[in-house]
Amino acid sequence: MELTKAIYERRSIRKYKDAEITREEIEELIKSAQMAPSWKNSQTARFFVAHSNEYKEKMIDALPSFNKDRAKDASCIIVSAIVKGISGYNADSEPITHLGNGFECFDNGLAVENLCLKAYEMGYGTLIMGLYKEQVIREIFNIPDTISIATVIAVGKADISPDTPQRNELSEILTIK
Ligand SMILES: Cc1cc2nc3c(=O)[nH]c(=O)nc-3n(C[C@H](O)[C@H](O)[C@H](O)COP(=O)(O)O)c2cc1C
Repeated sequence: MELTKAIYERRSIRKYKDAEITREEIEELIKSAQMAPSWKNSQTARFFVAHSNEYKEKMIDALPSFNKDRAKDASCIIVSAIVKGISGYNADSEPITHLGNGFECFDNGLAVENLCLKAYEMGYGTLIMGLYKEQVIREIFNIPDTISIATVIAVGKADISPDTPQRNELSEILTIK
């Protein structure tokens, strides 16, 4: 698939068909996420995937009701996470830019967008969710305190075809001198 097509046509999907995704397909998504750039190639993104029905149910329970309804029929639910204190930090574990720990989420976002675009190419819709029960997810996957949870991503076969939400005018977001 042409990259431009995926960039423009990927949408957040809030209704899924009952469909399976294979372990190999999940691995392909994560490999695409891995190819994203990261601070000094530190590769601090981590992924925890609920694939079995048992774990998908646990993850759905870790969402607020509106996200629960949206993600309930997803084929898998992916948690994107970050090893803390590396991206944007020096060897003494001090943040070295004005963004503090901001580059951690920056790197994670790059990886997650790769994942979403790859999923779209493979025929899957995605929904990135920033609202979830953090402590519940930590317990589901036994995630230690050295790792921050960033987003929860539903992946599945789209059962809707949403319009493109409006984007700002270029003049509002762009300065060229
Ligand atoms: C960090 C982040 C958190 C988000 N959290 C949610 C969420 O909790 N629930 C939801 O339905 N959509 C969520 N979204 C999806 C956005 O609402 C969506 O990307 C935006 O409206 C643009 O639509 P599009 O993705 O179809 O282009 C989130 C997106 C991002 C990047």
